[in-house]
Amino acid sequence: MDVKTIAVIGAGTMGRGIAYAAAFGGYNTVLEDVSRHVLEQGVAWIRQSFEEGVARGKVEAEVRDRALSLISTANNVEDAIRDAELIIEAVPEELEMKLELFTIFDKFAKAGVIFASNTSSLSITDFTDVTVSRDRCIGMHFFNPVPKMKLIEIVRTPHTSDETVATCREVARRMGKEVVIVNEAPGFITTRVNALIGNEAFNMLEAGIATPEDIDKALKLGLNHPMGPFELVDLVGLDVRLKILEYLHQTLGEKYRPNSLLRQFVQEGRLGRKTGRGVYEYPQQKAAEKKA
Ligand code: CAA
Repeated sequence: MDVKTIAVIGAGTMGRGIAYAAAFGGYNTVLEDVSRHVLEQGVAWIRQSFEEGVARGKVEAEVRDRALSLISTANNVEDAIRDAELIIEAVPEELEMKLELFTIFDKFAKAGVIFASNTSSLSITDFTDVTVSRDRCIGMHFFNPVPKMKLIEIVRTPHTSDETVATCREVARRMGKEVVIVNEAPGFITTRVNALIGNEAFNMLEAGIATPEDIDKALKLGLNHPMGPFELVDLVGLDVRLKILEYLHQTLGEKYRPNSLLRQFVQEGRLGRKTGRGVYEYPQQKAAEKKA
């Protein structure tokens, strides 16, 4: 199917990033969220990311202008998906929520539409089994920060058709991304490896082996990782990482048992940059939140 309009469901960190990529790729882009505040923040973030891209010489001014003119917003799923040929959901990692969404997609989307999920670990089959169009269900796993990350993991279930994979490949290409194709398995490729590295970093911190700064420094300078595991978990969200580890622990076994210090930080509300404190402190973010 020829994709002209992409609906992105959820305007959180990933949803707004995916909407950026969709508009960057020249698609009519509808960004949906039930919260008007989150939606406004999402659009402001997209605008700011394009400005940053232009200022750094990474994005042409015409590309920015065209992309921004292609973005619209919606406050409910039915309105958002009405004209879409591709729907990408980026809501929190709650199975029940995703099940409900896919039921709505099935009811209200046009015929032939592709339903994609940005889940970073859950079984796509688990929530696409409720649809009548299982051959058009697929995973499109983006990475944070989406404008700067080059990969999309395309995850096919046993029912996904070759045509659906081919369409998503082309969409990714127009977004300026590379793809890898993964046969569905918990955590796909990247989440499975990244969760282990991140958890092991917490295990070392808890055992007093080194400071967070030195663990980060070791991976950056000794292994050439662009960010240390604690800088990265603060970006991704400690709550997000914990949920992923819990799921991988359930499905893949003991080696994914979430570290107890990570759990403690989440209980204390230390969720990362978004709350002003994760492993590290972000005073500016805290001040901005207070102001809002
Ligand atoms: N629009 C479009 N493209 C842009 C852009 C913009 N606004 N800004 C930058 N780019 C492009 C650049 O052109 C560049 O591409 P080229 O190499 O082809 O030139 C690319 O994006 C990277 O840009 P920079 O080199 O300027 O990026 P940087 O030096 O500021 O590095 C970083 C930032 C890429 C985020 C780097 O620190 C990094 O890779 N960190 C690790 C992040 C990571 O691991 N993320 C994954 C988290 S896990 C996840 O997200 C999955 C999950 O499910 C939880």
